[in-house]
Amino acid sequence: MCGIVGYIGYDDSKEILLKGLEKLEYRGYDSAGIAVMSKEDVYISKVKGRIAQLREAVDGNVHATLGIGHTRWATHGPPSQENAHPHQSKSGRFSIVHNGVIENYLEVRDEYLSGIELKSQTDTEIVVQLIEVLYNEMNDVSAAFRKAVELLKGSYAIALIDAEDAETIYIAKNKSPLLVGLGDGFNVVASDSMAMLQVTDQYLELMDKETVLLRRERVEIQKLDGTVVEREPFTAELNESDIEKGTYPHFMLKEIDEQPLVLRRIIQEYQDENNEIKLDPDVRQAMKDCDRIYIIAAGTSYHAGLIGKQFLEKFAQIPVEVHVASEFSYNMPLLSEKPLFVYISQSGETADSRAVLVQTKELGHPALTITNVPGSTLSREADYTLHLHAGPEIAVASTKAYTAQMAVLAILGVDTANAKGIELDFDPMQELAIVANAMEAMADQKDVFEDLAREFLATTRNCFFIGRSIDYYVGIEGALKLKEISYIQAEGFAGGELKHGTIALIEEGTPVIALATQAGVNDSIRGNVQEVIARGANACVISMKGLDKSGDSFVLPQVHEILTPIVSVLPLQLISYYAALHRNCDVDKPRNLAKSVTVE
Ligand code: G6P
Repeated sequence: MCGIVGYIGYDDSKEILLKGLEKLEYRGYDSAGIAVMSKEDVYISKVKGRIAQLREAVDGNVHATLGIGHTRWATHGPPSQENAHPHQSKSGRFSIVHNGVIENYLEVRDEYLSGIELKSQTDTEIVVQLIEVLYNEMNDVSAAFRKAVELLKGSYAIALIDAEDAETIYIAKNKSPLLVGLGDGFNVVASDSMAMLQVTDQYLELMDKETVLLRRERVEIQKLDGTVVEREPFTAELNESDIEKGTYPHFMLKEIDEQPLVLRRIIQEYQDENNEIKLDPDVRQAMKDCDRIYIIAAGTSYHAGLIGKQFLEKFAQIPVEVHVASEFSYNMPLLSEKPLFVYISQSGETADSRAVLVQTKELGHPALTITNVPGSTLSREADYTLHLHAGPEIAVASTKAYTAQMAVLAILGVDTANAKGIELDFDPMQELAIVANAMEAMADQKDVFEDLAREFLATTRNCFFIGRSIDYYVGIEGALKLKEISYIQAEGFAGGELKHGTIALIEEGTPVIALATQAGVNDSIRGNVQEVIARGANACVISMKGLDKSGDSFVLPQVHEILTPIVSVLPLQLISYYAALHRNCDVDKPRNLAKSVTVE
């Protein structure tokens, strides 16, 4: 979603900002802009569209050693040049970039900004106008900035420059991610360390409701009352090569290919020298203590939660409910006596999930976050965290984080079973290692999936996925992948539900992708396949070795039945990838989507 970068130093800030914004492109955006300042002149360039267009629009002759930049994902007001950030105050003195949502922007406008003509429809412009109004009263930029921030309700990460002060970037943060990066003779700010890895790997974490005065040689963190906060920097775990495509044409393909490696890393990270499961003892205790688990997640992570429920119920024998984060608050179920909330989130920043976390923390319930980004908001605010160890996932459509989520949930289920003294004839590490090998074998057959994408999806306007039991959940994830990146209308259905409505949509040539990996339901899903073929469907059956029948489009290598979702999703990821390629879609940056969805 929106991204922020800022630089103050001695080098040309434009190039550093543009490179930083390019690194944030993966988060999803629809417009972008920069404001840079030299000798007290502010130069602003904004475009609706991609960073490449911004790069072309920026005047190469401007040399400035201080600046802020932004990628915007429209919330208040459509994507347009006027609504793109940076926004300026009435006199042009202050320029601001902002991530998040200001909930009380209308109240602020009515109370403080009468007579000021707004140039955009954004909540952000309200903030910069407010700062100028307060400055006119207080005559102290720093104090006016803090006062303005104090008046704001909602989420924000803000960077502000003052045309009359070429020595400072003003920063504030609440609920939206923002980091300060430290350099030698320069300092930077970014909503994501990836944006600034090009210049530094030393970062300072910021807490909610802190402000920062960012100068070339000095960084001063302050609370809203002006007290100065001391904080030690940390070294970013990433390095630049982790976030490069290398020889791959797209991040998504690279990340699909990384899945066996990620699984092996998870095995290593969650195993001790005696080959026992290694897990934070507090997490183990929390799992033992609860009488019901409530999984909260969105999108692909929600689908991982549906599979996780199977692992936790079957292995650990704890009842599990899985909820879509954005719906949970409206329909909060009657909670058990000792609930444990498990938040699954690749980014750890999803605002819908965080809203539930805030609510359940207020009720006093323990929370565990399973995320790929330790240190993310959901990770910091929960009591416990389990790390996915998937490495940065850049493509908007989640692949390796999803399989990592399932693997970690399987390990968690078995660990809890062990802790509760439940005997299982199942070695998760051994079984996951078999899964990793199976994934590798499939990734070597990409041409098969490219052909399937061409055969079934080249010209279609819709596609259905069917499965029974856990195959059904994999089917809905397959449908999500396909619609996210190829824009083909796709839906996943339980095989048995077809005849209750969806079968009316089957026409001559409608592609139906069926999963057949579960022995107990093989005959019934095969029956469903026949039903759709009889009505003209073009059926593509993906089955598991041992359950395969002649005519199946692809037979998966055999893995333990309960872990099949970690393997059977791979063909669906690859088919979606090639379908999107055939349709000339922007695979890594699909339209309208954002990787890290920081608004509710
Ligand atoms: C966005 C992304 C999805 C992702 C979902 C949840 O909608 O486009 O790919 O699954 O957010 O994200 P999270 O980071 O919480 O897993």
